[in-house]
Amino acid sequence: AATVRYEAEVSPAVCGGAIESEWGGYSGSGFCNAANAVGASAGFTVNAAAAGTATVQVRFANGTATARPANVTVNGSAAGSTSFESTGAWATWSTRTLTVPVRAGSNTIQFSPTTAAGLPNVDYVDV
Ligand code: GCU
Repeated sequence: AATVRYEAEVSPAVCGGAIESEWGGYSGSGFCNAANAVGASAGFTVNAAAAGTATVQVRFANGTATARPANVTVNGSAAGSTSFESTGAWATWSTRTLTVPVRAGSNTIQFSPTTAAGLPNVDYVDV
């Protein structure tokens, strides 16, 4: 099925921080700069045509030299982890592809950092 883009700055996405636009190259009108803290979050509500697994492509920027690890939860349950490597600059965006379990219909996907550095800036997810 065709992917749908869910922008981090568009409700029902929830940014546990600030929607910002100071760095270029983002899609839509901005990106989520989640708080620099363990447990901060960027969350999305996405649709899945069928129960099973879904491919989630997360666009992010990490202008620091240090990777930013995060847990992934789907519908409130642990669904793996990832680490958002340096992209070299805040205006340089990269895409991480994840496979997560989903149910048919609406699903919440949340990224939550596991270090005090927080998340990278998050632009959108394509699902
Ligand atoms: C800087 C940058 C932000 C980024 C933040 C961070 O403040 O301007 O876009 O989110 O660093 O370290 O997370």
